[in-house]
Amino acid sequence: MLLNKEQIMEIMKNEKYPLTLKYDPEWIIENQMGSHCLWLQESLVQVMDIKPNMRILDLGCGKAISSIFLAKEFGVHVWANDLWISASENWERIRKAGVENLVYPIHAESHKLPYADNFFDAIVSINSIQFYGTDQLYLKNHLVKYVKSGGQIGIIVPGLYNEFDGNIPEYIKPYWENDFYTWHSPQWWSNHWGRTELVDIEIADTLPDNEGYEIFRKSEMMVNSEHKLVLADEGRNISFVRIIARKK
Ligand SMILES: C[S@@+](CC[C@H](N)C(=O)[O-])C[C@H]1O[C@@H](n2cnc3c(N)ncnc32)[C@H](O)[C@@H]1O
Repeated sequence: MLLNKEQIMEIMKNEKYPLTLKYDPEWIIENQMGSHCLWLQESLVQVMDIKPNMRILDLGCGKAISSIFLAKEFGVHVWANDLWISASENWERIRKAGVENLVYPIHAESHKLPYADNFFDAIVSINSIQFYGTDQLYLKNHLVKYVKSGGQIGIIVPGLYNEFDGNIPEYIKPYWENDFYTWHSPQWWSNHWGRTELVDIEIADTLPDNEGYEIFRKSEMMVNSEHKLVLADEGRNISFVRIIARKK
């Protein structure tokens, strides 16, 4: 169902994300890349230890509004790292948001990050790591070294309540694409990272109360679009998965 502007603005008033309520809905819609990234960021940091003055990597930050949000809400320093969006474009947005002393735009590919080992107090990644982080060696060779011992890595990604055992269900098959094979369950992520023994898994869950489905559905409605796969699934399998790991 396609909505008018008033209806879209009404959907944005989501009391589950009180910090996000402070932000201009049009600015969020204009800058989200996929699902509503401030809802995703807020649902992630609700279960992380974020304190003022921390150094945080926002990996795959897109248009950097999740980085701007972190700086404004928590007074942290954020390295807003992305590949598809240039550092210059993000710098303009960061400056306009008035957080140029806290958010630093970086254009870098996730296997060639330009950071010092043990530099960050925490790493977050919103709706991004499914594009490059599911291979066996990514955590070890390309991610965990950049966070200090005792620091958290928090990711939120499209995923599944449970892995499909063999076959994709018939009701979603027409909409399934190969890219979605990187969507996994909390249990899968927990094993994937936990068995490396480089981190302790603190949280591996899906957003509660079918909230993952609602975020997908509403995010699409806000841009007058429909995610056919998610709608056909009706919240039976697909959600947003949160993993919080702490480096040993
Ligand atoms: C779906 S967008 C999400 C962006 C933003 N986090 C948001 O939620 O609006 C995925 C992001 O992952 C980034 N990305 C994909 N592959 C990447 C790679 N190999 N290295 C660094 N970033 C990558 C893209 O640049 C893109 O901005």
